[in-house]
Amino acid sequence: MSKAVDAATRADELRRQLEYHGHRYYVLDDPEISDPEYDALLNELRDLEEENEELRTPDSPTQRIGGQPLDKFHEVPHLQPMLSLANARSEEELAAWVVRSERYLTRQGVEMGDVHFVSEPKIDGLAISLVYEDGVLVRGATRGNGEVGEDVTQNLRTIGAIPLRVEDAPPLLEVRGEIYMPLSAFARLNEQRAAAGEPTFMNPRNSAAGSIRQLDPALAASRPLSMWCYGVGAVEGLEFETHHEWLDWLREHGFRVNRDVEVHDTVEQVVAACEAWQERRDRLDFEIDGVVVKVDELELQRQLGVVGREPRGAVAWKFPPTTATTTLKQVAWNVGRTGHMVPFAVLEPVQVSGVIVKLATLHNEEDLRRKDVRDGDEVIVMRAGDVIPQVVSPTSRAQGSNNRRPPPEPPERCPACDTPTIKPEGSVWTICPNRAGCPGQVFQAVKHFVGAMDIDGIGEENVRRFLAEGLINDSADLYALTSERLSGLEGFGEVSAGNLVAAIEASKEQPFERVLYGLGIPGVGYVNARNLARHMRSMSELMRASDEQLTEVEGIGPIMARTIEETLAEDRTRELVQRFRDYGLKMEEEGPAAPVEGPLAGKTLVLTGTLPNLTREDAIQRVEAAGGKVTGSVSKKTDYVVAGDDPGTKLTKAQELGTEILDEDGLLALLD
Ligand code: IVH
Repeated sequence: MSKAVDAATRADELRRQLEYHGHRYYVLDDPEISDPEYDALLNELRDLEEENEELRTPDSPTQRIGGQPLDKFHEVPHLQPMLSLANARSEEELAAWVVRSERYLTRQGVEMGDVHFVSEPKIDGLAISLVYEDGVLVRGATRGNGEVGEDVTQNLRTIGAIPLRVEDAPPLLEVRGEIYMPLSAFARLNEQRAAAGEPTFMNPRNSAAGSIRQLDPALAASRPLSMWCYGVGAVEGLEFETHHEWLDWLREHGFRVNRDVEVHDTVEQVVAACEAWQERRDRLDFEIDGVVVKVDELELQRQLGVVGREPRGAVAWKFPPTTATTTLKQVAWNVGRTGHMVPFAVLEPVQVSGVIVKLATLHNEEDLRRKDVRDGDEVIVMRAGDVIPQVVSPTSRAQGSNNRRPPPEPPERCPACDTPTIKPEGSVWTICPNRAGCPGQVFQAVKHFVGAMDIDGIGEENVRRFLAEGLINDSADLYALTSERLSGLEGFGEVSAGNLVAAIEASKEQPFERVLYGLGIPGVGYVNARNLARHMRSMSELMRASDEQLTEVEGIGPIMARTIEETLAEDRTRELVQRFRDYGLKMEEEGPAAPVEGPLAGKTLVLTGTLPNLTREDAIQRVEAAGGKVTGSVSKKTDYVVAGDDPGTKLTKAQELGTEILDEDGLLALLD
């Protein structure tokens, strides 16, 4: 065989392997090989294509990122219009839609028993059309006005969940679905942006839409997007009788189709499925705003036809609102742990899904500006799951009013210490520069430290009192508290004072990663602290590390690295660290760098839900101390899933895969 043929064969083989493993990773969430192994295959293919230009095909996995930034997006007409959905706002309206569809069809001579319905989550993202010609992705477009969309092919190619090539595809295939940003990825992205002083995104939908409309594909590629497919548009050369058969075909051909889509015979089943989605809504890693119900038989869908822009054969059941409207009495301000001015809304009390809400968060200055809420506005307040209520926006009536107050400005003086606030150059945040001298910042910092070190018995109120009484001035002072000094405080007997001091003393045994987390470096949450501790091994090493070395740590990008380096170089951080060291807190990582021996050596566990006694951090620590590894998602490689209260979809996945499921006691038994 000639060298050229060799290279072509190998390139083809690599492409198939990369497609297979990409599908396992992005679509099935069940990788078989590690990231470095995947990268090695990709690099080999890249090298081959580098040497043999003619081997570089547009559907090659190396071509996901690579296009040049565009000046603007081009418009593309859709092969078939992208329609909208009629809404049903209650179970009654949904049931009425089912009855109406059946009655309409009966008039056309269709037997009732012949109608089935499919229920699917209504993903709150943005609608996309993907066109495949002879199995190769040739174009991807946004919905636009339904007739004409924008050509965002370059950006869509960067999304791992979108196949670039489809085996055994018909000559023409248009796949439709929703692009979204997973909630966990959204939270991480905003955390990083806030730490870097960049504006944060309002919600996952906006950040997905903003990412898809980036003119530079490299930027789009850096945003963690995914896609759920929910149907087809124009097709030539393949036909099915039902919608669910199409979904099955798409799933089998590499597209990401939700596994919880169901087919139903009766209204009762449809309603029950909608309720089930509503119930599990808060546990999903993506936002849904309802359930889409579709007539399964495609011929019947055609007979039902379209009214205006809405097909009669489908309906969107919208979840009841978790929002309410009330008056914003005033935007007030707090100071955060790192000195940022934090706005919050003082509201005319209002009931939101069963709870009276008087205060709501406005996150930060940027959020406040973007929402453009003003004192006295009528505003929409939202509560979702357990999260703190938030102000969504002013109502349109408030926005249209012509005697609105001016936009609220961050305070000129810190609400906690009265120091004049400043806005550092290039930053979008106003801060109190008084740092160590600002009681508000000190309070937040100590509260964070107590939580990080898991010191039992010191609640928010005690932190406030100790500071107010002058018993402590910072986190390190906690270690100088004695039971004599505490028992002088009202409400503290000898016993409770003794217990508290013992709890503080016991926290000295907490591992280095917790001490580091407790330091409260901006942007360094528990997971980052753990990775830093594992990688750097000690505080001294960490303090010596350049920001370049810091970026070698998992999860630490260049901007975060700079913040870490700067914070650690500050005198006050150095002093605090020195005092922690003097009090005997751990400054060295004792945990494993490599897998350790132990009852869980070589085992992979996934945690889901709330355990009765152990916090998540405790559970991770114990598993790792026993040689095990905790990962975020369930796959065939998962040995155990530990499930607590309110487990998420991870439990369902484990049940599907037949993974062994443990409760807290089961986990503890394994550790012994
Ligand atoms: S079917 C005739 N299925 O909802 C419209 N749409 O309100 C065909 N959406 O523009 C759409 N999840 O962006 C369908 N499972 C799902 C969906 C879904 C979200 C969005 C889609 C559409 C909008 C219609």
